[in-house]
Amino acid sequence: MTERRNQPAIRAEGLTRRFGDRTALAGVDLEAAPGTVLGVLGPNGAGKTTAVRILSTLLRPDSGE
Ligand SMILES: Nc1ncnc2c1ncn2[C@@H]1O[C@H](COP(=O)(O)OP(=O)(O)O)[C@@H](O)[C@H]1O
Ligand SMILES: [Mg+2]
Repeated sequence: MTERRNQPAIRAEGLTRRFGDRTALAGVDLEAAPGTVLGVLGPNGAGKTTAVRILSTLLRPDSGE
């Protein structure tokens, strides 16, 4: 079985997402280690909800993984 404890629970690289002319995410990288809490802070419109929707598979990014 693959050892997972030393790997991130979440790993995102280069997430981009546009809505028409608006760029909601422009290359977001983040990692969250297993058993930790990651806070995502930013002003309204920063792209927090878009990022969480992508990480939870509710929305597809235009690029990134
Ligand atoms: N479904 C959508 N259609 C068009 N624009 C959107 C949509 N969702 C988000 N946006 C735009 O993308 C940007 C990021 O929004 P959002 O991820 O909701 O930010 P936050 O959650 O940080 O306030 C904003 O400019 C918002 O207006
Ligand atoms: Mg939001």
